[in-house]
Amino acid sequence: MIEDTIDVKNILGLQLPTDPRWVNLAEIKLEEILTDHAYCEQKAATTCITLIQKYSDRVELVEELSPIVTEEWGHFRAVLAELKKRNLPLGKQRKDIYVNKLLEFQKKDGSPEQRFLDRLLIMALIEARSCERFKRLSEGLDDEYMRKFYRKFMESEAGHYTLFINLSELYMPKKMVRTRWAQWLAYEKELMNSNEVRGDRIH
Ligand SMILES: [Fe+2]
Ligand SMILES: [Fe+2]
Repeated sequence: MIEDTIDVKNILGLQLPTDPRWVNLAEIKLEEILTDHAYCEQKAATTCITLIQKYSDRVELVEELSPIVTEEWGHFRAVLAELKKRNLPLGKQRKDIYVNKLLEFQKKDGSPEQRFLDRLLIMALIEARSCERFKRLSEGLDDEYMRKFYRKFMESEAGHYTLFINLSELYMPKKMVRTRWAQWLAYEKELMNSNEVRGDRIH
């Protein structure tokens, strides 16, 4: 469990903390945030399924990611229940600019090992940034119930971040993982810097 006093930026390696204005914007559009969040959880579950299908020969990956599918789907259901409480439908899936831009950085012409590593690291990065965003919500929202609501997600996604990093280091030399991870972090920093701060998106 992450303590409040620990700096998420340092734990997760993220190079740029979220713009402080984001929580205030998100608070105004919390209904939009719930819909976007619901789809983030759904995509996390489906991506884990895809990884299991694609890398079915990697025993540890299959074993470790199988329960994550259940967990992410549980997250989706929790957000869906929150929408229902507010008499809101799930709504349509939105264009995920953040993830689309991350995907552009994935190695397309690398070796199968490099592509495998990128698939794991992009997941680690999305988990890390999600964790950081949930931390901001869990600290910055006025509504105590919602602060607690997001705190649970924050703790869970922090664990997922660690899992994807650990899986990378299990299958790939540590030095290779560290080098590529540093490149991902630098790329994500630029992406966060250039992306518009908007209150209707988790990322
Ligand atoms: Fe999740
Ligand atoms: Fe997650």
